[in-house]
Amino acid sequence: MDYFLNKIDKHLDNHRSLDQNKNELKRKLNDLNGLKEDIESRVSSELQPTKKLKKGVQIWLENVERINGEIQSLDGRIGESSALTRGFHAEDVLMRMKEVEEHIQQGKFCEGLVVDNPQRIGQVLSTSTLSGEATKLCIEEIWQCLMNDEVRKIGVWGMGGIGKTSIMKHINNQLLKETHKFDVVIWITVSKEMSLAKLQKDLASKLDVKFSGNECETTRAGMLFETLSFKFSRFVMILDDVWEKVSFEKVGIPESSNGSKLVLTTRSLDVCRHVGCNRVIQIKPLAEEEAWNLFLEIVGGNILNIPGLEPVAKSITKHCAGLPLGVIVVAACMKGLDDLFEWRNALKELSLARESVNGLEDEVIQQLRFSYDRLKDQKLQHCFLNCALYPADFAIREIDLVHLWIAEGLVEEMNSRQAEYDKGCAIMNRLINNCLLEVLTETENGRCVKMHDLVRDMALHITCGTPRFLVKAGMRLTEPPDMQEWRKDLEKVSLMENWGLQLP
Ligand SMILES: Nc1ncnc2c1ncn2[C@@H]1O[C@H](COP(=O)(O)OP(=O)(O)O)[C@@H](O)[C@H]1O
Ligand SMILES: [Mg+2]
Repeated sequence: MDYFLNKIDKHLDNHRSLDQNKNELKRKLNDLNGLKEDIESRVSSELQPTKKLKKGVQIWLENVERINGEIQSLDGRIGESSALTRGFHAEDVLMRMKEVEEHIQQGKFCEGLVVDNPQRIGQVLSTSTLSGEATKLCIEEIWQCLMNDEVRKIGVWGMGGIGKTSIMKHINNQLLKETHKFDVVIWITVSKEMSLAKLQKDLASKLDVKFSGNECETTRAGMLFETLSFKFSRFVMILDDVWEKVSFEKVGIPESSNGSKLVLTTRSLDVCRHVGCNRVIQIKPLAEEEAWNLFLEIVGGNILNIPGLEPVAKSITKHCAGLPLGVIVVAACMKGLDDLFEWRNALKELSLARESVNGLEDEVIQQLRFSYDRLKDQKLQHCFLNCALYPADFAIREIDLVHLWIAEGLVEEMNSRQAEYDKGCAIMNRLINNCLLEVLTETENGRCVKMHDLVRDMALHITCGTPRFLVKAGMRLTEPPDMQEWRKDLEKVSLMENWGLQLP
């Protein structure tokens, strides 16, 4: 009898303390979930593309999920119990409480959350923040295609300056960071003047394939094919800025290996069709409001304090037709101007420029030209034009360019070489701040800059007149340009990166 009375007594006790313990469990679970959130945000900052999550951390996070689920169902069961049977859950609550406490203890991870992941191969690329709902949707669509086993070749197309390269750089980094679906992510900048041999050479250097120099293109294609088929059987290859119809077979890129993806960006829908893309994604311009926000971001919101300026600035933005490159270049050259008349004048110049062109591409070139004109200083403009002497998409070393400017007398003479060099760097910064040059890489050995292909088109447009340049850089020439191209008023000629060129 005593035994039963004891049991009943204990049961009533349990019943009384159950609510108390349930509340305690809830508090502890909140602590655990708070810790989980902290760990997740630490993970997202520590998880660089060359790192992977520690197995222990992954299991811990999964366990927290499981514990949350189990406590929720225990809570449900207690809620459904009658007053008489509720007390039977007391031990379960205590057990869960112990488990949660242990998990809080285990969740310190003082020695970091990630470890090196040598298997992932690929290069992280520098990116900037991208705005616009359409851009976000495009990124999502491309990502879905990459995750979808049915889609193998993806074509990303849109006009120059719309954001194709930037979007693909984001995808490249996201692939390195977030998925284990692929063994290697390969980025190749193709550009207008790319030859089959150069493409094979770039690809070989990315894959660590060594050419002896004597092979023919077919043998090289075979070597690349072999590496891509057997060593990195699941690859993503991003070919940025394709102009012509590439034959993947001739390059040595396998087209039918399972699980691999080819993505190409191009200004031409024809190229996408010709290479047989299973999915073609068009990059759309920014909506009016988004373009305006981007413009404001660059030019600085305080311009809105100038009475009467907002409608003028909005009209200037409208001229850029939602093209990100146009918006940032025009905004960068308006930055710091706080006189309404200057803004009105700029709008007038842009409107006049628009009247003189046909087609959107020409119009963009005019917007870019507007930024060039506003440099106003002739020497500075000449420094800028000199960058077009390098081949398209060429990584130009800052130090080389500055020395070129100094040698040409474009940098004001100073009393020391160092002072002149510093002055040259200041010019470089001015061109970068005006978005006429982009910083490509920045290391302790210095910076490399590049000219956006459309900005280079604009520069070459100018150098067809005054000053006149003859630029045949990286064009695979074997002979010098024709006699008629050597006009009397030529100021500069660039034949760089034409390795097969025989000069008489
Ligand atoms: N959605 C966007 N939001 C903000 N800036 C953008 C966006 N898309 C592109 N840009 C900027 O515009 C410029 C041109 O973009 P890019 O990707 O080089 O164009 P494309 O490869 O299509 O010629 C870059 O400086 C880039 O940072
Ligand atoms: Mg591009």
